[in-house]
This record gives sequence, structure tokens and C-alpha cells, in this order.
Amino acid sequence: MKLTSRQERLLKLTFIDFVQVSEFLEAPLIVDKAEGLYYWDQSGKRYFDAIGGIYVAVLGHRHPRVMEAMRRQMEKITFAPPLHGTSNVTLDFIERLGAVTPENLNYIKPFSGGSESTEAAMKFVRQYFKQTGHPGKYKFISFYQAYHGATFGAMAASGWGKRKAKFEPQMNGFIKAFLPHHFRDVFSSWDEANRFAAKMAEDIMINEDPDTIAAVLIEPICNTGGIITPTDEFFSMLKESCRRHNIILIYDEVITGYARTGNMFAAQSFGAVPDIICAGKGLSSGAIPLGAMMAREDMKDAFFGMPEDEIQFAHGHTFAGNPLACAVGVAVLDEIVENKLDVKARRLGDYLAKKLEGLKTLGVVREIRGRGMIRGVELVRNMQSLEPFPELGMALKKTSLDNGIILRINPDWFAVAPALIADESDIDEMVELIEKSLKDALKVVGKPR
Ligand SMILES: Cc1ncc(COP(=O)(O)O)c(C=O)c1O
Repeated sequence: MKLTSRQERLLKLTFIDFVQVSEFLEAPLIVDKAEGLYYWDQSGKRYFDAIGGIYVAVLGHRHPRVMEAMRRQMEKITFAPPLHGTSNVTLDFIERLGAVTPENLNYIKPFSGGSESTEAAMKFVRQYFKQTGHPGKYKFISFYQAYHGATFGAMAASGWGKRKAKFEPQMNGFIKAFLPHHFRDVFSSWDEANRFAAKMAEDIMINEDPDTIAAVLIEPICNTGGIITPTDEFFSMLKESCRRHNIILIYDEVITGYARTGNMFAAQSFGAVPDIICAGKGLSSGAIPLGAMMAREDMKDAFFGMPEDEIQFAHGHTFAGNPLACAVGVAVLDEIVENKLDVKARRLGDYLAKKLEGLKTLGVVREIRGRGMIRGVELVRNMQSLEPFPELGMALKKTSLDNGIILRINPDWFAVAPALIADESDIDEMVELIEKSLKDALKVVGKPR
């Protein structure tokens, strides 16, 4: 894509998330239009959006129902005074979301994105324990390789040194465990690696002193680690350990929610419901910033009292519960529920996985991971050494754009999470583009023996 000198100058006056601008300028992408499964850049070239923006466009871009809900809401009210009141559509959203959360997770606060939601959940848990007779519980256990957001608390809970070291010292009270993937080559089976990782997490709780641990925070499927997908048993064991030690279990479902894994939330897919779920990204299908924290209903007793008790959640954001954002959230949830997109994600996800398995014939794909309509593909030099192949991913960044497809590339794995409006023929088109881009990338880097 060709940039004008003005665009180049302006790009040097801003930042691209986590990407060096000089690298971006080598293969720039400026999108101008989006609809359904596609983006168009400023020259009119079409791109298959295999990642829904960045796990956001669950219903595709500019879904008509969502656009209509926004238009209607704009005619009524787009901002409510947060310290004085709320709006009816905000209450509608809380009701709709509460109706689709698992078990009794219907104590809900809307926010404007993922980091706000995880950050709020951690503050909420600390305040909860202070007000329920356990003021010494303040630490958080989370996992290496995880990403929970960019703000200070969410960053401290995240597990990538490269994204954190520049901002050290981190907040204290954040302890890390390893995900099962870390042990996959040590054990003879994935199940055993999962059992060991869950056991390690409990060992950490015990050795830290459970009376100091407030919560465990985990993504059901860890994106930044490479779509790491633990077993159902891992989550059951983690939940049981948390229960034993009076520790709150928080799932960061910013990516895995809204039907993506085959149920409204991954908590249902993995069969172990936490105490709190955090949401963001796909909750608005990308139309507007929206997130939410959903806690066990009984937790409200710790926050509801007389004004002089001063036990209300001491937290807020100007745009939390924004009427326009909540109108979008209602439309997205209604569309998912009415069209049973959770069931569709299960069926289409199996088809997607099967198609991606076909890439193994290229001899550089070790594993296809994930669940439902989120899948990761691990790139290795060859099937004997199983050594990571980041150069291939780096080349794929360019060949995929050349071929008109947008992937999440890390670079020794890549992920796909197409919108749930896709059907089998769209998946076929997407996997064909991926295969062509991988072959082109292999031509660039050469296939190692
Ligand atoms: C799992 C997860 N949690 C939290 C966040 C933070 O969300 P946001 O970028 O909306 O603040 C992200 C963003 O990528 C994420 O992937």
C-alpha cells in the first residue's frame, strides 16, 4: 500500500499499538471501509478479516442490527451523568447480560473496554475482602504469557516481561504461575501437563499463605501465549483450589466471551464457572468501546448498605455504562441469542479446526489449538526438531497482507477468529488465503530441513 507524504509524517507523530512505526511503514495498512467479514484499504483493496479486528467484530463489521440500535439511541440520549444517575438502556444492558451469564454472575458493572474491566475486578475483589472480614487478602495470582490489559494493575497481572520491563517497578502483590503449555514437553500427555500446572497453582497459593491471596486471574484461552487452551479438568482443579482457600476466581473473557468458544462464555465451554467474568472487545462487535465486570450476585451484600457505612464500590469511569455503548451491547447480545450463534460457533469451529489441520501437510505446523471459532496455528522449522519458526511468521506478516488477509501473527504462531456470521464457504476462502500466504512466506524464508 502506498502512503502519501502527509500520512507518513502523521504516522511518525503517533503510535501503533505495540508495533514499531518504522516496521509498520514497511508494510502499512490504512483501512477506509469495513463490512461483514471484510476491510477495504484506501486504495480499494479488499482484506478478509480473519481476526475480527482483534477478536472484536463478533458479528462482523457494521452489522445492520447494531448500526440501527446506535442510530435509534442517538435520537434519544448518548450520555447520562455518571455521578447523578444512569439511563434506562444501561439497565436494559445489565438485565440482558445478566440473563446470559452462567450461574448467578449477574452483579454487573459496564465499562469501556477490557483493561477497565480487569482493573476494576481486581479493585473490587480487594475491597470485597476488606468488607467481609479478610483484609489481609490482597495478592493476585495470574499466569506468565497472559495479557490482561495495559493499565498498571492489568499490566502487573499480565505475564510478558517484554511488555512490562520498560515500566518497572511493577505494583507489588502480583504473583505468577505457569500455564499447562509450559510443561507440555515434560509430560507424556497434555492431560498430565494440565494436572501438574493446576497442582502448581495450588502449591503457590499454599506457599504464599492463602490468607494473603485475593484472587486468581486467568484467560480461559491465553491469546498472547499462542491460543493456549487448557483442559476442562485444569479449570475444575483451579476452581476447587480457589474454593478450598477462599480465593476469588476471575476469568478474563475479553476474547473468549460472546459465543466464540461455542457457549456464551468460555466458563460454560470448560464446565467451571468462576466468581467473576471480565468482558470487553466483542461485547460491542467493535462498534463502540464497551466492557463489563460480572460478579456473583451474592457479592453485592458486601457493597450495599447505608451511605454512612461507605461500603459502595469506590470506583468509576466517566464513560462506564454509556447509553450509546449499552444500546450496542443489547443489540449484540440479542443477535447472538436469537440466532443461536453459540451453537453455530461449535459447529463451524469444528469445521475450521479440520480445515486448519490440512495445513500440516506443509511440514511447518506443529499444533492447531483453540476451541470453537478461535484457533491458533503453531509454526515450527520442521516436524523433527519442533523448533519455533519466527522468521516464517515475520514473512507471513507481509505475504498475508499482500494476499488480502488479516491474521494475528506473533511470529511463531498465528491465530484466526473470524466473525460468527461466517459460513463454511467463508472458512474455505479464509483457509485458502492462509495456505497461499504461508507458501509465499516459505518461498521468502526457504523451508528448513
Ligand atoms: C485477554 C485480554 N484482556 C484484556 C485486554 C485489554 O483490553 P483493552 O485493550 O480493551 O483494554 C485484552 C486486549 O487485548 C485482552 O486480550
